Amino acid sequence: MKKILIYALCLLSVFLFASCGQDRNEPGSTVDIPDGLIVVGFSQVGAESDWRLANTRSMRETFSEENGYFLILRDAQQMLENQLAAIREFISLEVDYIVFAPVTEGGWDDVLKEAKGAGIPVIIVDRMIDTSDVELFTCWVGSDFHSEGDTAVQWMEAEFKDKPDLLIVHLQGTLGSSAQIGRTEGLQAGVDRNPGWEIIHQVSGEFNQVKGKEVMEPVLKQFSHIDVLYAENDDMAFGAMEAMDMARWTYGVGGAVTIISFDATRAGLEATLDGRINFNVECNPLHGPRVEAIIAQLERGETPDKFIFVEETAFDARTITQEDIDARAY
Ligand code: AHR
Repeated sequence: MKKILIYALCLLSVFLFASCGQDRNEPGSTVDIPDGLIVVGFSQVGAESDWRLANTRSMRETFSEENGYFLILRDAQQMLENQLAAIREFISLEVDYIVFAPVTEGGWDDVLKEAKGAGIPVIIVDRMIDTSDVELFTCWVGSDFHSEGDTAVQWMEAEFKDKPDLLIVHLQGTLGSSAQIGRTEGLQAGVDRNPGWEIIHQVSGEFNQVKGKEVMEPVLKQFSHIDVLYAENDDMAFGAMEAMDMARWTYGVGGAVTIISFDATRAGLEATLDGRINFNVECNPLHGPRVEAIIAQLERGETPDKFIFVEETAFDARTITQEDIDARAY
């Protein structure tokens, strides 16, 4: 048995450890790693959305002891500094692989140099980082967020081809994250080429439902009409819908406000099927098996592709079927 000591990295970790009870896989505990397991340190962004929970589940299910792995999972609670601390912890523990989903794009070079110096392969999932040296990480697998934004905007252009003037409210995700940047740039490109489109309000709902509702409430007081709500994920769309229900605004198919959303989680697709969301662009969170396939390649001494984009689709309320929802694993 290889014995490693996982030590407290910060006061927050100590507090969580004390308040949640001892877990052999928590910061501050001593863990025994059975021989023969591949040790994977995974720094997750947080638990802000249904998408994120599905992503964490996918990683946990894939990197189980039954499958030959020992997973050390750290939840960064949306903070870059927590992710940097987690990655430094993984380096000191000499894990076999470091995997992380970056909360925002900037600020990674130093810690990646440390991981490279320690000879630990680094796999980035979901979002991208902004670095001058792509040799600092082994490879990346995730979504093409620009293409997601383009898909949404192309739908808007077709949907509103006879209505050139659009008043748009834009709920952004976590500022500085690839998901926000790609989806926002997609919308901005649409606004740039459609002179009648106007973003009348732009605010971050941080990819979560509570915040989505909170930021939508004043918008509904400020404006008497909105043509399109462009919500950068389902959770924020749900929060905005709660606010609109309370303020008695109509939305969705046949309603005053057309809703565009992203993720297409099961709940998001159900809302699309019943017409509360008009158009939902998929973002697939099932990265566990994809990361495992990369690790298998590396274990065999092969070189995985540097960038692996996940195939994604989109759903229109008028054409989605119950089968689409039944096929959803998240
Ligand atoms: O990076 C993927 C995004 O992050 C998802 O769209 C969002 O729901 C999540 O929190």
